[in-house]
Amino acid sequence: MTYFKINENLTITLNEGIFGLWNLETGEQYEIFERQYLDRIFELNELIGMPYTPKTEDDILIEAGILLIGRQAEECQKQKILNGPWGWDLISKIFHFGSKHNFPSKFTNTETNEEIGYVNFCESIAESTPNLDTEREGKQVHLPDYNSKVIDSYSLKKALWNRTTSRNFNKKSVPLEIVSNILFTTFGKIHGDSHKSKLAERGILTVGYRRSSPSAGCLQATEAYLVALNVNNLDRGVYHYRSHQHILTKLEDGIGSDLSQILCHQSFAVDASFLIVMSSRFDKLWWKYPHSRAYRSALMDVGHLSQTFNLVATAHKLNTWLTGYFIDDLLNNLIKVDGFKEHSLFVLAGGHGLQDPLTPGVAKLLKATAS
Ligand SMILES: Cc1cc2nc3c(=O)[nH]c(=O)nc-3n(C[C@H](O)[C@H](O)[C@H](O)COP(=O)(O)O)c2cc1C
Repeated sequence: MTYFKINENLTITLNEGIFGLWNLETGEQYEIFERQYLDRIFELNELIGMPYTPKTEDDILIEAGILLIGRQAEECQKQKILNGPWGWDLISKIFHFGSKHNFPSKFTNTETNEEIGYVNFCESIAESTPNLDTEREGKQVHLPDYNSKVIDSYSLKKALWNRTTSRNFNKKSVPLEIVSNILFTTFGKIHGDSHKSKLAERGILTVGYRRSSPSAGCLQATEAYLVALNVNNLDRGVYHYRSHQHILTKLEDGIGSDLSQILCHQSFAVDASFLIVMSSRFDKLWWKYPHSRAYRSALMDVGHLSQTFNLVATAHKLNTWLTGYFIDDLLNNLIKVDGFKEHSLFVLAGGHGLQDPLTPGVAKLLKATAS
């Protein structure tokens, strides 16, 4: 009996009225204009385990790597058993396979050609550069100038060794000068326009500016929003940090939402002095990297910034905490972003209290159980 199998690493999409079929293993995409192919996939799926009987539609399905016959099907099944089950849900599998670079080795150019290709690509998108400097509307709040004294005197080793995740804040307030220093050091345009001008001298037009952390394509897709809870000389509220100008824009007077609920009831976080919500401007990444792989860049950008924040806040003798556990749409509402072109990705916290990984609730519970 000839064995057959349907490649399960595929996804069927519907976009702008067109059915698409993606082979996630090869990265190849097909438009399905004729229903008979979908019907045939459906039919084959019902016939799994039965002898294979060819039909006219099959040639195209075989070419697309969707229908596997004989040895190919056996190999695929063998590999599936060897791999064992995928540990997350199917969406993650689609994302993982879909965001891989699947260029076959025969498409690998020489180094020189790749460089020319990259320059040509950059040239081709130059005219459609999106607005890169985010300037939210609202009352502007000036921040104290950056003061490097603390960073200058605190060793990197000390910062690395003293950084821990703390979950026991005491609502004590933090001077605005410290918040300002942390924002500038982590998200500010610390080099001014030197990157742009140095490259311009060499005949290269570059977009964006550099921060203290690296950023995919120098796009600085990550935005920072300050949720001021207990900050001296700053009203409680939600602010956007204009990285390129080192000022805040007030988005909301006070905090109208239930922060604890937004943070999936990690309620200890509301006792911090401030939170920083990091969002990603997907539209910037769409422009230069129009492939799902760039979602990885968005996450990695945020990861770099997060660790810089941790070290800088530690140097300023603050306890830090961080979370990726929140209700996305509620957090997007808090920072007033559309959740489509710009979406929140991570939350940081700084404040005073006990340097304790346990929350006050858990600590209390343990004490009660022990007594
Ligand atoms: C990507 C990421 C997500 C995290 N999410 C949470 C979270 O949702 N809640 C929390 O209390 N801690 C969270 N943490 C903190 C970790 O639990 C913590 O880093 C870990 O226990 C190690 O402790 P340390 O940071 O003190 O070295 C997160 C850390 C990272 C890097």
